[in-house]
Amino acid sequence: MKIVEQIKQPIAFEMDLFEQKFQLSMSSKVALLNRITHYIVNRKGKQMRPMFVFLVSKMVSNGEISERTYRGASVIELIHTATLVHDDVVDDSNRRRGFFSVNALWKNKIAVLIGDFLLSKGLLLSIDNNDFDLLKIISIAVREMSEGELLQIEKARKLDITEDVYYEIIRQKTATLIAACCSLGAASVKPDSQDVEKMRKFGELIGMAFQIKDDLFDYGDKQIGKPTGIDIKEQKMTLPLIHVLNNASNKDKKWLINSIKNHNKDAKRVKEIIAFVKDNGGLLYAITKMKFFQKEALTILKDYPDSDYKNSLELMVNYVIDRKK
Ligand code: IPE
Ligand code: IPE
Ligand code: MG
Ligand code: MG
Repeated sequence: MKIVEQIKQPIAFEMDLFEQKFQLSMSSKVALLNRITHYIVNRKGKQMRPMFVFLVSKMVSNGEISERTYRGASVIELIHTATLVHDDVVDDSNRRRGFFSVNALWKNKIAVLIGDFLLSKGLLLSIDNNDFDLLKIISIAVREMSEGELLQIEKARKLDITEDVYYEIIRQKTATLIAACCSLGAASVKPDSQDVEKMRKFGELIGMAFQIKDDLFDYGDKQIGKPTGIDIKEQKMTLPLIHVLNNASNKDKKWLINSIKNHNKDAKRVKEIIAFVKDNGGLLYAITKMKFFQKEALTILKDYPDSDYKNSLELMVNYVIDRKK
């Protein structure tokens, strides 16, 4: 059995029902909107965030979940989808999940509005059902994600990012949403329990590993359903490059910075930068850090009694760093 199927086994029923609910949660009376949301739903992603919501909620409650859990999962996936639509505008990226991105097909104007629509649909789903405790968890994640993307742009302009600032960026732009999945999963079934904070921390750690993995993909040439090699093009400095820069001679440092600053759209030069990063151990360093976050996440799970859900979560933690897309 494939690893993803194995992970999903204890939540197969929930994931099926979730898909139906998620699809309904996007509906609108505007024909153009429906056309685009259909396009998005038909190209679904890995759905790792709802999987985290269901696995965590079932682990802490011995399998007893509620409608709140389903709504929480839908809100998170709506917000994740909204962020991706906006992110592809910000990163000027034309592919997503193996197809054209929304901005590639309908232009930036429409992509910005679609993202806003999905975001508001998510927030309303919580509000209309009085899930205010869950809404708070989600709203914090939304604020942090915007701050993270902006901090990243600020650093891309100045090219002065340190390793600590990189961790702060990825914590904000990616890890907080995965942290929200896990704390919301716990809060949907056991509000006010210690599990809420414990699972938030678990999600944050795994979210850090998740984004380091995503940044490593950008250095590869595998088919991952979105462009590779675009981070440097966008002057986005990620861990492999930051590490190599910090350890380079002054001469190499000058060459790297000048290349990123002035030749970032030159495909040949970008390839040379990527080769330099690889030759100087940048990827290996990032892999070591990724594994450190993975290990920390697994340690938190050790406090929970054995169950199918815990077992799947452990597999999920490993899948985050072993995945092929
Ligand atoms: C992509 O997230 C955005 C990042 C935070 C790196 P996913 O890799 O989970 O995207 P989908 O939903 O599977 O397409
Ligand atoms: C994730 O960063 C940003 C989000 C919070 C959506 P990336 O810009 O690296 O994500 P991808 O690679 O486009 O999916
Ligand atoms: Mg992007
Ligand atoms: Mg990326």
